[in-house]
Amino acid sequence: MSGDSTKKTIIVALGVCLVCSVLVSSAAVALNSIQEDNKRIDKLKNILEAGDLYTDKGSIEKTYKDKIEGIIIELKTGEVLPEEKHSEKLNVATFNIEEMADDAEYGVDIPADEDIAGIKSKPKYMPVYEVKNKDEVEKYIFPIYGKGLWSTLYGFIAIDKDLKTIRGITFYQHGETPGLGGEVDNPKWKASWNGKKAFGENNEVKINILKGKVDPSDSNSEFKVDGLSGATITTRGVDNFVKYWLGEHGYGPFIENLRQEGNQHE
Ligand SMILES: Cc1cc2nc3c(=O)[nH]c(=O)nc-3n(C[C@H](O)[C@H](O)[C@H](O)COP(=O)(O)O)c2cc1C
Repeated sequence: MSGDSTKKTIIVALGVCLVCSVLVSSAAVALNSIQEDNKRIDKLKNILEAGDLYTDKGSIEKTYKDKIEGIIIELKTGEVLPEEKHSEKLNVATFNIEEMADDAEYGVDIPADEDIAGIKSKPKYMPVYEVKNKDEVEKYIFPIYGKGLWSTLYGFIAIDKDLKTIRGITFYQHGETPGLGGEVDNPKWKASWNGKKAFGENNEVKINILKGKVDPSDSNSEFKVDGLSGATITTRGVDNFVKYWLGEHGYGPFIENLRQEGNQHE
């Protein structure tokens, strides 16, 4: 091969690489907003599923708008942030848990001995989604997240207006193994949470995910959920972070305020 044709081959190869890289990066930029929008819609779908409101793909935004009212609460006090104090970051529609947990102003480190969810830091404020029927709240849907085996799982848990009964659980983001930890997405397993009691007689967090199956004759079975077989680590993770978020360092103060105020916040 002459030196001239080697040069031509390299120029053509470089040209093809350049054209391809421009095409791939333009596609990535052009599709980015679509991907972001799909992620947003998927999150709304999960909120609706947790609240047992999801019917079909076409009506996600309408059902969300008609049925859900998003509020922002301060975790420490459990108080609802008045709307006039909402801002670009403290905004239900765009609230980004991961960014807020790491934010210098809005994030807070979790002491290691409290961190049963394995998340190291959390936002000081969190969005809560109220399922409304006319003016009455029927359920509260709380964002939850924490470590499994391979990943941090992000999802929602719905609590009935009786402030005791679990009405649903969903996960919209995780990296657990399909068929093992990924069974957190199994509709049958998720449905098994509906009707379980999150809190005991003295309002202590009492829900427990077992290693194995719940014995239906157990008088405490209403506080117990089946573990996922072959996925003890993911199961333990979900058990821990559900307890964390429903407890005193999570939504506990907000739920306690609701109990005091007869299920009505100001
Ligand atoms: C490739 C691979 C992927 C796994 N993925 C998970 C997982 O997502 N969640 C999990 O808890 N365990 C997973 N495991 C199993 C854990 O290593 C561990 O054996 C299991 O959690 C024990 O559960 P068991 O006591 O119910 O058998 C995986 C194992 C292998 C080999």
